[in-house]
Amino acid sequence: MNILIINGPNLNMLGIREPEVYGTATYEDLVDLITAEAERLGIQTSFVQSNCEGALVDAIQGAYKTADGIIINPAAYTHTSIALLDALKAVGIPTIEVHISNPDTREDFRKTSYLRAACINTIEGRGFNGYLDALRELAAVLDGDQVD
Ligand code: DQA
Repeated sequence: MNILIINGPNLNMLGIREPEVYGTATYEDLVDLITAEAERLGIQTSFVQSNCEGALVDAIQGAYKTADGIIINPAAYTHTSIALLDALKAVGIPTIEVHISNPDTREDFRKTSYLRAACINTIEGRGFNGYLDALRELAAVLDGDQVD
């Protein structure tokens, strides 16, 4: 099972950016955490982080026929990007949206997610653990698909 983990703009600045919102752990810490859990579950992972919307679209398109599932934190593009929504719809890969903070309890402009409509679930406000929950949920869903 191959899961692609995509992180959008400014998530490379984890540990530096707004630690009161996102914590003090870094993007590298996040990758290490997910990799360890994926190894425990016997899942293969690949990671993409980009600050560019087009590169994120390319990453989603690149997952077609190469990834079984996607975990995506689209960061600020959550609230603006029809292109990312369309890319997820185009590839049709089971996807879970993750947010470290809970955007629904923050500014009004964070309450809209364009991508949510193409995701099987949205996990918010659980910090880095949200990615691990997403990994376990995707693994269960994909295992179920394989049995069917
Ligand atoms: C975020 C929430 C977004 O509103 C914000 O623009 C981010 C990070 C989160 O993980 O909580 O960059 O996606």
